[in-house]
Amino acid sequence: MMNGLVVGIPTETVYGLAGNALNEDAAIQIFSVKNRPHFDPLIVHTHSITEIEKYVTAVPDKARLLMQHFMPGALTLLLKKKGMIPDIITSGLDTVAIRIPNHPLTLQLLRALPFPVAAPSANPFGYISPTTAAHVFEQLHDKIPYILDGGATTVGVESTIVGFEGEEAVVYRLGGLAIEEIEAVIGKTTINVNAASNPKTPGMLKSHYAPVKRLIFDNKTELDRLKASKEKVGIICFNKYIDGPDKNAQVLLSSRGDLEEAAKHLFAAMRTLDAGDADVIYAIRFPEEGLGRAINDRLMRASFRE
Ligand code: TXA
Ligand code: MG
Repeated sequence: MMNGLVVGIPTETVYGLAGNALNEDAAIQIFSVKNRPHFDPLIVHTHSITEIEKYVTAVPDKARLLMQHFMPGALTLLLKKKGMIPDIITSGLDTVAIRIPNHPLTLQLLRALPFPVAAPSANPFGYISPTTAAHVFEQLHDKIPYILDGGATTVGVESTIVGFEGEEAVVYRLGGLAIEEIEAVIGKTTINVNAASNPKTPGMLKSHYAPVKRLIFDNKTELDRLKASKEKVGIICFNKYIDGPDKNAQVLLSSRGDLEEAAKHLFAAMRTLDAGDADVIYAIRFPEEGLGRAINDRLMRASFRE
């Protein structure tokens, strides 16, 4: 990573495609390997709050509280950047997205490196994020020289992104840190994950995290139609099977009904069904609480087609 090389690294959320965040050539490489448009900025990863303070000009009070409670963890903060963070990293924005991943191997790596690391999820732009080193290998092995294998990720969905308008916190991406946890620390918080045009966070782009196959999300009419048709359907369920279709074509994300466990298995289940013999994928809506919100957000975006 010293010379502008990019490699795969584990985090607790999803695997990242990592390069030196202070090196423009590394950033160019990341955009090119991912086939990602340059208007979609990258997240910077580092190992301590003291390090974060080296790259930002100010930390609002609520940001400070969130850092103290949830870093390292599945939380990314948008903070005003200093000049040393290249404009290509932030797509010209004056804020930088920054987080401390909670993964022992990657924290060790970040402590050993003399620079912070820019890392988007290690998937081709628009496809499902990788939660194992094998997922990264399948899609990027001919484009990157190395993948650090840290096992399957423990959270399974990307970090929650929080920015600030003045002193007020705004959630721009639902993710691995639940809103309830954030609100327990800083109080009622605005959620703005659907600004349609010119998105502040392009992770908000409607069509995202998508399998190759058509995915239908929480649509009873379509489900009834599929049950009656000859089309093979693969189904993503929470803790119980849908009545009717063959159970072998259904995946339970958490048989004990735990939303954290479901989040952890979501992307791997989408990949499995995408690679299997189903013609179409159907997903139920999860409870709108805890990580259920992030799960529903990803399924909704995966179901969206232009
Ligand atoms: O959990 C994660 O956050 C993973 C792991 C690898 O850390 N990373 C990740 O990166 O999900 P990526 O690039 O797939 O998603 C980053 C999101 C994008 O939607 C991007 O638009 C937004 O963060 N973002 C980055 N910098 C931003 C900024 N300055 N202002 C607003 N949004 C920003
Ligand atoms: Mg991504």
